[in-house]
Amino acid sequence: MKYFILFGPPGAGKGTQASSMVEKYNLHHISTGELLRKEIAAGSELGLKAKSLIDAGSLVPDEIVEGMIESEFRSVKNVAGFLLDGFPRTTAQAEALDKMLAKTGEEVTAVVSIMIPDEMIKERIRHRASIEGRADDAKEETINNRIKTYHDKTEPLVGFYRNAGKYNEIDGVGTIDEVRSKICGLMDKF
Ligand code: AP5
Ligand code: MG
Repeated sequence: MKYFILFGPPGAGKGTQASSMVEKYNLHHISTGELLRKEIAAGSELGLKAKSLIDAGSLVPDEIVEGMIESEFRSVKNVAGFLLDGFPRTTAQAEALDKMLAKTGEEVTAVVSIMIPDEMIKERIRHRASIEGRADDAKEETINNRIKTYHDKTEPLVGFYRNAGKYNEIDGVGTIDEVRSKICGLMDKF
């Protein structure tokens, strides 16, 4: 199995790009953000726990998302691999992922990082707010906290995966098609 990580700050285009990658490479897309939003919509206990944290732009506890990932790995068959979007987001999650994969003698195939400047994060999220109505896109304060959380907790993973020789970065500024072709140029190699 291949395990690709689509990395990048909020609004970088992870979800947008993932949809075409899953078809092209026969991958199963796992967005922890989307899974959590489904739990919230279903009114589950897990969703209730996650809601206030997501609405504040903070991360939910590592164990919650690690459990979600492991159960997707176990239940999804007949694909060439997985495309992780929004996971891992902390060094602890990256270490947990390595351990999970090591159980079956597997490892992360590659990290594809989509980078955009903070100002563009805000522009793209503002634009999406008018279309999708995501609760965590609604308030400036939440968006600022998501950006801060990204820099504080998630950006250190750039070094983590660079040290592991798995980090690949592309410039996320450009049209959706331009970014897509850069990502494919990278993923074709694996
Ligand atoms: P999550 O859902 O993962 O949100 P995020 O990381 O903040 O990322 P986004 O979904 O906002 O951005 P995206 O990169 O997918 O951009 P998109 O393609 O939509 O997480 C939400 C919350 O859940 C977190 O804050 C946290 O609380 C919790 N959570 C999730 N995972 C967790 C974890 N592992 N651990 C702990 N907590 C976790 O694009 C954005 C907009 O831009 C769209 O409108 C799109 O059409 C547009 N666009 C995209 N590309 C382009 C382009 N090239 N040019 C112009 N517009 C573009
Ligand atoms: Mg997304």
